[in-house]
Amino acid sequence: MAKTVSVAIDGPAGAGKSTIAKALAKELGYHYVDTGAIYRTVAYFLDLLGISPKDVDGVERYIDELTVAIEYDEEGKQHMIMNGMDVTDEIRTQDISQKASLVSAHKVVRDMLLDMQRSVAKKHNVIMDGRDIGTVVLPKATVKIFLTASAEVRAKRRTEELLAKGQKVSYEQTLKDIQQRDYQDMNRPIAPLKQAKDAVLLDTSDLNVEQVLTQMKQIIGKKLEK
Ligand code: DC
Repeated sequence: MAKTVSVAIDGPAGAGKSTIAKALAKELGYHYVDTGAIYRTVAYFLDLLGISPKDVDGVERYIDELTVAIEYDEEGKQHMIMNGMDVTDEIRTQDISQKASLVSAHKVVRDMLLDMQRSVAKKHNVIMDGRDIGTVVLPKATVKIFLTASAEVRAKRRTEELLAKGQKVSYEQTLKDIQQRDYQDMNRPIAPLKQAKDAVLLDTSDLNVEQVLTQMKQIIGKKLEK
């Protein structure tokens, strides 16, 4: 089997990873893999059962009853399937964002999802976004980019995105949520959010989507030339 190309994009919540990764995947004809959606699906499943995301015993006891699958529709959009049910839209709330951050700290959860993420990258050329793609999931990724922005800019973007979807959110609450998630994601013992040594850092605070895309294409182009 020919070797596949993988682009790992890591960074904190709201840095623009998914918008950029989706656009790049479309342009390059790669599979876009949103790994945060997988953790959100686990959080949603446990939430439906009434299990607290901090309850180690509860998470360990019920995780085996969950089957998570990723499917793509004709337009290439990623769908999350939880025990046969499409939960793609249900997992996009502030509440589930917080719970996903807590649930993702459990070893049993990360272990369960590791092979699934690696096997997609083995089969397809991928642009994969998350927190630990360049450090843990695909340490040999062809290209690694760490995308970040100030917490204020990220909160502003996230607020606009959720308001556009019709959810009732305030900037202040979104900023608090983002700061809390940053703390949790960066300080957990297993696979914390951090820049891989060989990742290129891109701060998008003062850049629009077009400018970020141009820079990303340059970074990827240079790596692929080698
Ligand atoms: O990217 P996102 O906001 O949808 O991710 C939701 C949470 O999932 C995030 O706060 C931390 C966790 N996550 C993770 O631990 N590792 C990843 N590769 C992706 C997400």
